[in-house]
Amino acid sequence: METIRVGIIGVGGIAQRSHLPAFKNTPGVDVVAIADINEKKLDFVAGKFDVPRKFVDYKELLAQDDIDAVSICTPNGLHREMSVNALNAGKHVLCEKPVAVTGKDAEAIIAAARASGKVFMGAFCLRFTGASRVLKQFAQDGKLGDIYYVKGGYIRRRGIPGLGGWFTTKSLSGGGCMLDIGVHALDRMYWLMGAPEPVSVSGVTYQAFADNAVDGGWPPLATRIGDVYAGINDVEDMASGYVQFANGATLLLEACWAGNCEPSSYMQLFGTKAGALEDARGLQLFGEEAGSLLDIKPQVDENINIYEAEIAHFVDCIREGKEPLTTPQEIINVAKIIEAVYKSAEQNGRQVKIAEL
Ligand SMILES: NC(=O)c1ccc[n+]([C@@H]2O[C@H](COP(=O)([O-])OP(=O)(O)OC[C@H]3O[C@@H](n4cnc5c(N)ncnc54)[C@H](O)[C@@H]3O)[C@@H](O)[C@H]2O)c1
Repeated sequence: METIRVGIIGVGGIAQRSHLPAFKNTPGVDVVAIADINEKKLDFVAGKFDVPRKFVDYKELLAQDDIDAVSICTPNGLHREMSVNALNAGKHVLCEKPVAVTGKDAEAIIAAARASGKVFMGAFCLRFTGASRVLKQFAQDGKLGDIYYVKGGYIRRRGIPGLGGWFTTKSLSGGGCMLDIGVHALDRMYWLMGAPEPVSVSGVTYQAFADNAVDGGWPPLATRIGDVYAGINDVEDMASGYVQFANGATLLLEACWAGNCEPSSYMQLFGTKAGALEDARGLQLFGEEAGSLLDIKPQVDENINIYEAEIAHFVDCIREGKEPLTTPQEIINVAKIIEAVYKSAEQNGRQVKIAEL
């Protein structure tokens, strides 16, 4: 088995918590280089994870001919530039969520991926949970029938990430909770629905905690070496979107970093043959058989390390020349839907057509 040499661009919270340990635990993979503009963090991470090469300018990492693949773990607003440059440099790319801040950014990345022939994967780790796998299999096998209505959300009570850092600075992040955690909920539901064509979107955003904002503790303090969190907060802390699809299906999405509410992560799918609910109680399916309503609680593997599973899949796609689980159309449409939520919110909830973007 030939070794796959990996470089990681941006070595903050998610790189230290998931990408570095997961790549290091994957057989046949060597993490040979890291890049970060924060030299203090770069030195700390290179030492802690025993990475031989480090660069302040990520383009120098991309110029290393022996590097096969990169993980992009930088602020959202940099994903397009870095992904396109990495693909053009002949690297396979795993890019953190949200892959892109706009539909056009997503299209530019996918065009670069197609031109390069390299693997491009969005790091949507929730697709790898035990419940996601079970549900996707049920959906693929037709056990849910046609999925016509879906709702879900990711709701925190006090969880604004890195207050005063890039997460809360729109010019760097592209948006607040909808782009940060709403995208996780949306991506998973959209994938489970079979990625129908989105037609129109209405959305609202709120910044109710601007004067009462507290740092929610992500990125973990131990990973913030040398970072300064003294900037602005000009993004939403609560958002909701309503999406209509060409096949008649609809989707309701909620995201919240801070609210006077019960924290939750939930998803409900309504199918013509059966439905599904996932929340703190686990995964349940609701059907009907032999004249009886039937509630099913599938056994779900709760012990999957979703980051290791995601990275193993990425490596597998490189080795086997396989299409990643995140398809180009899913990546583009997820970006467009979120862009349309923001556009609608800016225009008092006007229904925005995806074709306008
Ligand atoms: N999959 C998940 O569950 C998950 C969780 C958290 C974050 N994320 C995503 O990962 C990405 C990074 O988030 P994070 O929490 O690690 O943030 P972070 O602030 O901890 O890390 C970002 C790093 O990028 C570096 N950086 C900034 N500009 C750079 C540049 N021009 N070149 C090189 N490095 C640069 C910063 O110095 C910092 O070290 C975001 O897109 C975020 O949405 C995903």
